[in-house]
Amino acid sequence: MKILVTGGAGYIGSVVVEELLRDGAEVVVFDNLSQGHRAAVHHQAEFVHGDLADRASIDELMRAHRPDAIMHFAAHTLVGESMQQPFLYLHDNVMCGLNLFESAAKHGVRRVILSSTANLFGAPERVPITESEPVAPGSPYGESKYALERALSWLDRLYQVRSACLRYFNACGATVERGEDHHPETHLIPIVLQVALGQRDHIRIFGDDYDTPDGTCVRDYVHVVDLARAHILALRALDEGSRTYNLGTGRGFSVKEVITTAREVTGHAIPAEPGPRRPGDPAVLVASSERIRAELGWTPAYPELRAIIESAWRWHRNHPHGYDD
Ligand code: UFG
Repeated sequence: MKILVTGGAGYIGSVVVEELLRDGAEVVVFDNLSQGHRAAVHHQAEFVHGDLADRASIDELMRAHRPDAIMHFAAHTLVGESMQQPFLYLHDNVMCGLNLFESAAKHGVRRVILSSTANLFGAPERVPITESEPVAPGSPYGESKYALERALSWLDRLYQVRSACLRYFNACGATVERGEDHHPETHLIPIVLQVALGQRDHIRIFGDDYDTPDGTCVRDYVHVVDLARAHILALRALDEGSRTYNLGTGRGFSVKEVITTAREVTGHAIPAEPGPRRPGDPAVLVASSERIRAELGWTPAYPELRAIIESAWRWHRNHPHGYDD
């Protein structure tokens, strides 16, 4: 099967490409490298440098490669940034996704997997969060992903394009060769590890007055390889119908617990300082992944936070300057 992966030079996309190739797929990566890294793209994948804002280049891509399926990762993905620059998300994320989907429908691509997000649930009524929790995006980022989920439901009804919307909770961890490298880095685990590497003085905790056991935000940290395996299972099931899954481990860890575990893993003191809340951050996001467990047999191979941070630490120690090394 030939799979087009947009954003395949980014963190999650590049690990999914690695797993797809291991699974025997043929992969074409389409990425504008605005956030991704050429070095993150597996050498067995074909790389096409291009931008989803350019409709003509997507049509050309479809004509040249005739993919059997598309996995769409390319997007702006930062909750905090989306509160500062909403139109980057409400406009660019949505327009680029629609360009891709319109081209897919026109060229007869019948399978799409969308990288969606837990930020669809801004203030969940029940935790762990199931797929039937009412959607109320917590930020323009979450809103942009929901718009694309809705667009895919119309592609299903009108063009028989089957899709899977995979709502990731907090992706983290690394493979031996691929890890998290954003510029600037805003994510908790890589920043904590940068402190351990001596690249930062401390980690600032965004709010310690939430209604949670230790006052800091609780998140469901899910290993990027487990996310990648979910994509492969979802792809195999797509011909039986479109579907939506929440992807997490079902366990939440607070910001302080993440820092404590990172101290144990790295042996570094990792100074932490409390600061103000970051706009757009819900207090608690923990997934129920019962649906994908029941329907596709997905179970996380790395449910332990310690193992997740160990894998990230290994990668960051080997790549202290990310892919620039
Ligand atoms: N945090 C800090 N200090 C930091 C960075 C983060 O305290 O320097 C806190 C945040 O406030 C949050 C937690 O650590 O409570 C995790 O923050 P991240 O920035 O690592 O991740 P987010 O939860 O903001 O967002 C991530 C992805 C989104 C996705 C979301 C789903 O970046 O794309 O998980 O839960 F939507």
